[in-house]
Amino acid sequence: MSGMVALELPSCGFTLLSKMRSVLMVLGLCVLVFPVAFSERCHPHDKKVLLQFKKELNNPYFLASWNPEEDCCTWYCVECDDKTHRIYDVFLVSSYPDTNLSGQIPPSVGDLPYLESLTFHKFPNLVGPIQPTIAKLTKLKSLLITNTGISGPIPDFLAQLKNLELIKLSFNSLSGSIPSSLSQLPNLESLQLDRNKLTGPIPGSFGSFKKPGPDLILSHNQLSGPIPASLGNLDPDRLDFSRNKLEGDASVLFGSKKKIQVLDLSRNMFSFDLSRLTFPKESLIWLDLNHNKIYGSIPVALTKVENLQQFNVSYNPQLKGQIPQGGQLQRFDQYAYFHTKLCGSPLPPCTK
Ligand SMILES: *[C@@H]1O[C@H](CO)[C@@H](O)[C@H](O)[C@H]1NC(C)=O
Ligand SMILES: *[C@@H]1O[C@H](CO)[C@@H](O)[C@H](O)[C@H]1NC(C)=O
Repeated sequence: MSGMVALELPSCGFTLLSKMRSVLMVLGLCVLVFPVAFSERCHPHDKKVLLQFKKELNNPYFLASWNPEEDCCTWYCVECDDKTHRIYDVFLVSSYPDTNLSGQIPPSVGDLPYLESLTFHKFPNLVGPIQPTIAKLTKLKSLLITNTGISGPIPDFLAQLKNLELIKLSFNSLSGSIPSSLSQLPNLESLQLDRNKLTGPIPGSFGSFKKPGPDLILSHNQLSGPIPASLGNLDPDRLDFSRNKLEGDASVLFGSKKKIQVLDLSRNMFSFDLSRLTFPKESLIWLDLNHNKIYGSIPVALTKVENLQQFNVSYNPQLKGQIPQGGQLQRFDQYAYFHTKLCGSPLPPCTK
């Protein structure tokens, strides 16, 4: 009966039963076509390391499929390369309350030299720092550690992992400042550090990312100081700096030649003149500036932004003048404009 329970073990988004079924189908076919003994594809080094990794996590039930009697290329939550049979992906994703990992990220993870992608998602009892042995994973393209209890700084060594394309460390308890060395990552497409306890400034070096620069999702932290002028060199699809303590002039992030789609600066202390800014009229779809100290008036140029779907300038008490009529600007209700000195549709008409 305990075998039946194991079959219902939830892991990595599909059930053990469905994986076994597909394995059985493949095996059935092999037996039919090639009546030879099944040989293990899994690389012995990787198998040994994964078993050590499981042990370091105290053999969680969640990893019951990691059975030493079976080919590790058939295990859950890992992927083996078709040709080399080396493990290139470890993805531990909890989808049910009973998939519980606790303790630290196992040091043995650093001994999987072919790893390109490492994921830990939704393990609140996973604690400690970002495991230092990750520094050895020079082939790593994607590092996702999200919704965990991981704390401590974002390590400088990430800058040495030159193949990194995606760093997503959202919803953890990371603290300290953002390492300026990350700008040395030549292939980085997305840096997502939102919902942590990060402090300090956005590094000035971030203006020297290779063009157009990665999407920067830094919201819900305690970042402070001004936007470095060098960030004017960037032109990613998405910048989200919302819910921090950033201040000063953010106008370098705007401009008609850019291709930015989503720009969220809401809930900071930014203070600059909105009147003179220009906007990428074809790409921009999301502009949220609410809760800042932005002044001046809404430029007519905004009526030319064709696909604006989200717009919010509320709670900028110094913003004044008539809301330009036309384009998408009247699509938004009064709550996109309230707590300002603006007037005109959708707010009451300007008097005078
Ligand atoms: C998960 O593991 C932690 C640490 O061992 C433990 O305190 C907690 O009760 C466990 N949660 C569940 C749902 O099993
Ligand atoms: C704009 O932001 C304010 C403040 O967060 C919010 O109350 C309002 O609903 C938002 N309006 C729109 C249209 O997004």
